[in-house]
Amino acid sequence: MAAGNAASYEAPHFSFREAAVQLFLDTTDTAVLEELAATGLVDGVTTNPSLIAKSGRPMLEVIAEICALVEGPVSAEVAATDAETMIREGERLAQIAPNVTVKVPLTFDGLQATRALSRQGTMVNVTLCFTAVQALLAAKAGATFVSPFIGRLDDMGFDGMRLIDEIRTIYDQYDFDTEILAASIRTPDHVKAAAIAGADCATIPPEVFRRLIQHPLTDKGLEQFTADWAGTGQSILDARAFDA
Ligand code: E4P
Repeated sequence: MAAGNAASYEAPHFSFREAAVQLFLDTTDTAVLEELAATGLVDGVTTNPSLIAKSGRPMLEVIAEICALVEGPVSAEVAATDAETMIREGERLAQIAPNVTVKVPLTFDGLQATRALSRQGTMVNVTLCFTAVQALLAAKAGATFVSPFIGRLDDMGFDGMRLIDEIRTIYDQYDFDTEILAASIRTPDHVKAAAIAGADCATIPPEVFRRLIQHPLTDKGLEQFTADWAGTGQSILDARAFDA
């Protein structure tokens, strides 16, 4: 925009890309969820039996509360290991709210349950995925999401991010709609690498989510700007500032 041309300047129209990487919170802490959801950047939530145990609360109550706090998918994991009971548990969990995604483990029975629940129109997140062929099976079974566990692979000395790359290649090659939900995220760098590798979503522990926002140079720069601004004695909200 040329100087002095403000009257003819039209602001560009910004739109939020639907296709942008979705950020989920991996938590059962509803207070923390409510606080972080205020950013408008929390697209969904994942939970697992360990997180439910840590909350010390009844699962159905926690999931219902979480579903009321976020519009997007909320993963609630089955506890059974046989297909028939997984399906029954999944049907029960799906009744809690329309945004419940039933989470099932990537096992023989889990894949059967995935197929059955998906055919009923229930969203399914196939969890504990550690290889690309497991992810291929999850997609063929009709999973809405597959959760490759990056951090746990890294812990074992493998390259977790390579798994996301491989799944992306396979899913693109065969046009699978299943979304890659990068899980077991430990650092902001994991989120960056997952986005670069083409993950559709990343589920992030609250402490890592906070670290996504922070940088020491942001704090230092803001401190300087605030001090310099105070020295001017001006106030943007003081109408007289614009009368000059
Ligand atoms: C995701 O769905 C899982 O709940 C979670 O990411 C597991 O993370 P962890 O390996 O840190 O337990």
